[in-house]
Amino acid sequence: MVSGGIAAYKVADLVSQLLQAGCQVRVAMTAAATRFVGGATFHGLTGQPVQTDLWANTGQAEPHVALGDWAQAVLLAPATANLLAKLAGGHSDDLVTATVLAARCPVVVAPAMNDAMWAKPAVAANLSVLRERGFTLVEPESGRLASGHAGAGRLASAAEIFAGLEAAIRARYDLAGRRVVVTAGGTREAIDPVRFISNYSSGKMGHAVAEAAAERGATVALVTTAPFAGHPGVSVRRVESALEMLDTVRQELDGADLLVMVAAVADFRPARTVSGKIRREETETLELKLERNVDILAELGKDSQAEGVFRVGFAAEDADLEAHAAEKLARKKLDAIVANDIRGGVFGSDENEGVMFFRSGERLALGRSSKRQMAERILDAVKDRLR
Ligand code: CTP
Repeated sequence: MVSGGIAAYKVADLVSQLLQAGCQVRVAMTAAATRFVGGATFHGLTGQPVQTDLWANTGQAEPHVALGDWAQAVLLAPATANLLAKLAGGHSDDLVTATVLAARCPVVVAPAMNDAMWAKPAVAANLSVLRERGFTLVEPESGRLASGHAGAGRLASAAEIFAGLEAAIRARYDLAGRRVVVTAGGTREAIDPVRFISNYSSGKMGHAVAEAAAERGATVALVTTAPFAGHPGVSVRRVESALEMLDTVRQELDGADLLVMVAAVADFRPARTVSGKIRREETETLELKLERNVDILAELGKDSQAEGVFRVGFAAEDADLEAHAAEKLARKKLDAIVANDIRGGVFGSDENEGVMFFRSGERLALGRSSKRQMAERILDAVKDRLR
């Protein structure tokens, strides 16, 4: 993203270096930037149309969302004082600001301006807002400025900007190259073609783990019983019963680094599934005989295929969290277990609470947070332990 400063001309060279380093680059410019460098320069370098207008008919209903979704990182160079103010204020009145607001990926800002502008408290205040909100800042250099003054405000060198981009990408995509399998939802054990036994699990926690892992760069297979809207980087396998889940997890586990078994597997299933619909008229009472279901994690614990996979279980507990979790960790041969405290009414909720126990004996309190935040904490805790 190029904004309107004299340093815009340097960005042509930067784009060329990014392309030579193997990156795919798309350029968007503010209207002011086009007064310093022509869009044809960036078009020629990237071979891609240069976007300057939120309202241009590009065939995309929301070009700012499309651009943010496409990118793994957004770089703003040069970022003028005006652009910094707009970003800090959350404006979205042109393609560049709207793309930044819509982006889910890391944003790197390389400001460049006159030294007097750079020294103003208003600029410093905007920068500290952006830093607080997670933007990566590549500070300008000191030297001779276009105005003839000398001081801080020159666009950082290409090497510094590359380093900033790399740091932001590494921090964000810390599961790149990893294959993660996540299970979610309550299994459905068929009584007849229209009825089943299940539980209150909504699938939200497992879905949050799958989305978080994908956004951190992992290739994710989500084996779920619950409807899932879809997410970039997540391939979905819908299943019903525990047996089907075991079978599908086994298929997906090839080459996996991490398995997170969030699914609430029904511990018992009907001993027999009736092939035709059971009709009310045919019976006054109905007795269901249940038999013990397959224990997916325990079965996987016997598979040599699962040996290299870091296995995390979930345990829904309403008492004696620690003792139950420790027992399950050992019995199911897990590397870690998240003991979910269900006393706070977490089923179907957007929040969760729990403690994580590791085979090594470590204990990590996860506190109460949104399911997405809990997913991030779990991934933070396991990412450096993967084999
Ligand atoms: N699990 C499994 N197969 C089952 C039951 C549970 O793989 N048949 C997994 C769950 O996905 C979860 C972990 O085992 O990751 C713990 O589940 P939990 O239901 O708490 O354990 P149980 O063995 O069923 O123990 P209990 O019902 O006695 O609490």
